[in-house]
Amino acid sequence: MKAPINPFMTSGYLSADYFCDRQSETENLIREITNGNNTALISTRRMGKTGLIKHCFEQERVKNHFYTFFIDIYATKSLRDFIFILSKEIIETLKPFGKKAVEIFWNSVKSLQGGISFDLSGNPSFNVSLGDINAGKTTLDEIFAYLANADKPCIVAIDEFQQISSYADQDNMEAVLRTYIQHCANARFIFAGSQRHTMGNMFLSASRPFYQSVSMLYLDRIPREEYVLFAQKHFERNKKNITAETVETVYSRFDGITWYVQKILNVLFSHTNVNGVCTAEMVPPAIESIIDSYRYAYSETLFRLPEKQKELLVAIAKAGKAKTITSSEFIQKYKLASASSVQSAQKVLLEKDYITTEEGIFSVYDRFFEIWLREKYG
Ligand SMILES: Nc1ncnc2c1ncn2[C@@H]1O[C@H](COP(=O)(O)OP(=O)(O)O)[C@@H](O)[C@H]1O
Ligand SMILES: [Mg+2]
Repeated sequence: MKAPINPFMTSGYLSADYFCDRQSETENLIREITNGNNTALISTRRMGKTGLIKHCFEQERVKNHFYTFFIDIYATKSLRDFIFILSKEIIETLKPFGKKAVEIFWNSVKSLQGGISFDLSGNPSFNVSLGDINAGKTTLDEIFAYLANADKPCIVAIDEFQQISSYADQDNMEAVLRTYIQHCANARFIFAGSQRHTMGNMFLSASRPFYQSVSMLYLDRIPREEYVLFAQKHFERNKKNITAETVETVYSRFDGITWYVQKILNVLFSHTNVNGVCTAEMVPPAIESIIDSYRYAYSETLFRLPEKQKELLVAIAKAGKAKTITSSEFIQKYKLASASSVQSAQKVLLEKDYITTEEGIFSVYDRFFEIWLREKYG
């Protein structure tokens, strides 16, 4: 694979070389899975759950012994969607293993056979459309029967797992999946999710199907020192320099959340000349240039929000970390309408992921959006 022009990736996973640290997390996750434990991987958004899963799947001892299936179910709204992306992923993953591997799957999923064909050289193609998936539970049965009998042990990672609790056509999807998973000795599951609350509740409340059925892994920030080493290594490889102070500034400015650190380092790298040194003064212009690139999207987003939600969003952005947003003090300070209108606006903003809450403190989810809001309304 060709090396990227910029070593600081801001989406997807390329290879271990462009992946910072996560050594102990990689060990832990692989250990849980190879010891037969299904595992829930939880963190705030953009900390690196998806990246960690991809990284683990690339390790020889995983790659060489398991079929690794990865699905992101963020955009799925039904069991039908779920079946669609899972079966597609299975076909795509099995393809490089040859016709025989795919045929084992094809033979299992009778209800999807019409949508899976092989060309003359045995390459499969997946032509199932959502409308073809009418058998719901039957198809799910067949897929799990495949996982149980595949010619290799399987690892199935389900990203944004919290989504399954809101499927329209299957109100007890959690219970349904739990039953399948429990009986599937040949496959191990990784459930990754970001809404700490939702995910936590799924595995920690006694009333929920997945209660106490998995190992829990909480993904924290990458240590600051590791980021400094990683950043300096990549600058130096490209005959550039970056001071430790600069990396530390970026890291603390965004609480060490991986995506933001990567995003800023990406820009700083491009702003630094060969043989040049990247210093801390370059950080604010880098942030500005990122916000600039999103300016139009932010205006649009704000324009579309109903007035009460917009007012609350701006208030939370100004407050930074807002604790008692329904208190009369907060309402007066930011000239909001009433506690009840704040309550309902808050609910929608949370649902739409414009704001997040952790331990009762509210903040704007997207830190760049927050900075922009403050600049505009500050
Ligand atoms: N260890 C890492 N080193 C470098 N970049 C990373 C690392 N982990 C994640 N990233 C990058 O950070 C961003 C957010 O990571 P992601 O795995 O999508 O977070 P999450 O799934 O927790 O929301 C991605 O763009 C990814 O490329
Ligand atoms: Mg993710």
